[in-house]
Amino acid sequence: MKRIFSGAQPTGNIHLGNYLGALRNWVTLQHEYESFFCIVNLHAITIPQDPKVLAEKTRELARIYLAVGIDPEISTIFVQSDVPQHAELTWILNCLARMSELERMTQFKDKSRKQSENVSAGLFDYPVLMASDILLYQTELVPVGDDQKQHLEFTRDIATRFNRDFGDTFRVPEPYIPKVGARIMSLSDPTKKMSKSDDDATGCVMLLDDPDAVNRKFKRAVTDSGTEIKFDNSRPAITNLLTIYQLLTGQPIVEIESRFAGRGYAQLKQNLADVTVEFLRPFQDQVKGIGAEHLNRILRQGREKARQIAGTTLANAYAAMGIVGASTTDE
Ligand code: AMP
Ligand code: TRP
Repeated sequence: MKRIFSGAQPTGNIHLGNYLGALRNWVTLQHEYESFFCIVNLHAITIPQDPKVLAEKTRELARIYLAVGIDPEISTIFVQSDVPQHAELTWILNCLARMSELERMTQFKDKSRKQSENVSAGLFDYPVLMASDILLYQTELVPVGDDQKQHLEFTRDIATRFNRDFGDTFRVPEPYIPKVGARIMSLSDPTKKMSKSDDDATGCVMLLDDPDAVNRKFKRAVTDSGTEIKFDNSRPAITNLLTIYQLLTGQPIVEIESRFAGRGYAQLKQNLADVTVEFLRPFQDQVKGIGAEHLNRILRQGREKARQIAGTTLANAYAAMGIVGASTTDE
């Protein structure tokens, strides 16, 4: 069975963009692929984090994975730091990665601009850790939002380089970026993507927001000039709202457009808020219902399965490069 691998960072709060661009697709793809879903806490610390909050968010994100519908009976859920091979392979790939290619990464440029003082070497190296995540599992497909495209290209490049220089070791993965929902925009500024790190929290609907917050955020959502409610790329605000509506309800575009024909923006926003609240209610109940022991069991199981596969790949990579030590020499 072919494999998928994906992950999200346990920082801030998971929002509708994360769900519609990524997590939602993990849930459907898990039935077709052997699946690995990681909580990437080592990526999180590339930006300073409060240790207590990071620990809480790590467990909360595991609960969110389960509550959106990742089935631990068929998929592997684990925490990145539980599998030391991720950090180990990162060192190896660091020695193949080039400064120049990492300097071109737009996410690094954006994040280091926001963080202008004390940009860590870890932030610069972020894509190498991500490549390690993916390559350790001989991954076929990586379901992510549009903003990860460049990191996936880098992952492909570095895998190809390793295979060329040291022999076939890694499968070269393909991105899976959905046609609809790969880039959900901020409700308060439809030229920017919905983002956890956005200072303006009204643009970002969190999966754990209560109904009041959801209603308030949609009510304040900016709209375009004009009055027609139609999918139209020249009207990014309405198109973004309609995209969210389409994905949450599963209704076809023509049906949505005819439903709102002749109605005003306020009605669309109210309706969308209702749809979102109804979608979030059962999900939030699920999150609350996942006990600590149950969660521990799932994460321990995930850790064991992941370590096994990651260990094999890492050993092959070491051997291919001629990295041997006391325990590996036959002389
Ligand atoms: P992160 O929270 O940055 O770890 O992202 C987790 C996943 O959500 C990644 O696959 C991202 O590409 C995806 N994602 C983040 N923001 C958005 C957005 N605004 N629209 C669609 N997908 C997104
Ligand atoms: N960089 C991804 C993001 O911020 C998270 C991530 C880390 C990831 N490792 C990964 C996604 C491996 C897919 C595969 O969204």
